[in-house]
Amino acid sequence: MMEQHTWDIVTGPGITALGLAAARTVESSMPDALIDDPLGAAFVHAVESPIAFPSRWPAEGEPVTDQQALHLHGSRYIGVRSRFYDDVVRDALRGGVRQIVLLAAGLDTRAFRLDWPADVTLYEVDQPQMIDFKEDVLRGEQAQPGCRRIAVGTDLREDWRAALTTAGFTRSVPAAWVAEGLLAYLPADAEERLLRQIHQLSAPGSRIALDRIAQVNRLTSDAAPLDQLSSRSGIEMKSLINTEARQQPAEWLRLNGWTVREEDVTTVAHRYGRDLTDPFTRQSTSPWLDTRLLTAELARP
Ligand SMILES: C[S@@+](CC[C@H](N)C(=O)[O-])C[C@H]1O[C@@H](n2cnc3c(N)ncnc32)[C@H](O)[C@@H]1O
Repeated sequence: MMEQHTWDIVTGPGITALGLAAARTVESSMPDALIDDPLGAAFVHAVESPIAFPSRWPAEGEPVTDQQALHLHGSRYIGVRSRFYDDVVRDALRGGVRQIVLLAAGLDTRAFRLDWPADVTLYEVDQPQMIDFKEDVLRGEQAQPGCRRIAVGTDLREDWRAALTTAGFTRSVPAAWVAEGLLAYLPADAEERLLRQIHQLSAPGSRIALDRIAQVNRLTSDAAPLDQLSSRSGIEMKSLINTEARQQPAEWLRLNGWTVREEDVTTVAHRYGRDLTDPFTRQSTSPWLDTRLLTAELARP
């Protein structure tokens, strides 16, 4: 289970965010890139990581360790996931939503890399230490967001609503909530509380997008997939991912009036023309856990 009493960017949950910045950097360098994240490399180069995350695709014939192969294959998957959420945000903007909340924003750089209408506010919520690290690097890069960007340091397992509303969030107008790579790290009760808190802050017309591990309820009795991911990736995913049994978020959202659509990541990948077969072994088994991507909208009256 996740412990966050001590924190730095290269251990615990911090390193998962760093790994994703590296994955987006690899993805951005590919000829078939689904996203372009020019700031990802700045985060990766800002620290000495115990894991040598690749930040580009290897040249033809260049030797690749098993750990690098895992991260490179993972970057193909993260490319799909990042693009999926980019499109969720673009779709919300087209639908007139003007406040976007990235829950557990990590080292995401949408504020800097997407095209934004003039009147959008983007809230980036994460642990205060993550925000501090990110702000330092962004300042060093003199990065300028394309929207009004407000970082909110808080713990999403607790009551974060006051922090968000104090930062300017308006509950009477629709919002788009993005929980990318978050639920897997939350205890079951914190996940349900988070959904309830989001619901309470959501005006009709609000949207939410999230991902979840489909087999989470089986991981408690079958640790093999997590063991394998931990040893191949070099990240102690076993101590980070929370495997407590939980209700499916789709069920909770439907019961509370949201219209939900859920797909597995392979289906979404095919829609983007991407085959997630392992590029090194040509096997179809994915090293990451079985991810499902969900979008939902709260009906207008
Ligand atoms: C896997 S990273 C995902 C980051 C980002 N959404 C992305 O896709 O690049 C997980 C993020 O969740 C954040 N996180 C985990 N538990 C949290 C909590 N209880 N409160 C706030 N943030 C949390 C971590 O700090 C980290 O940035």
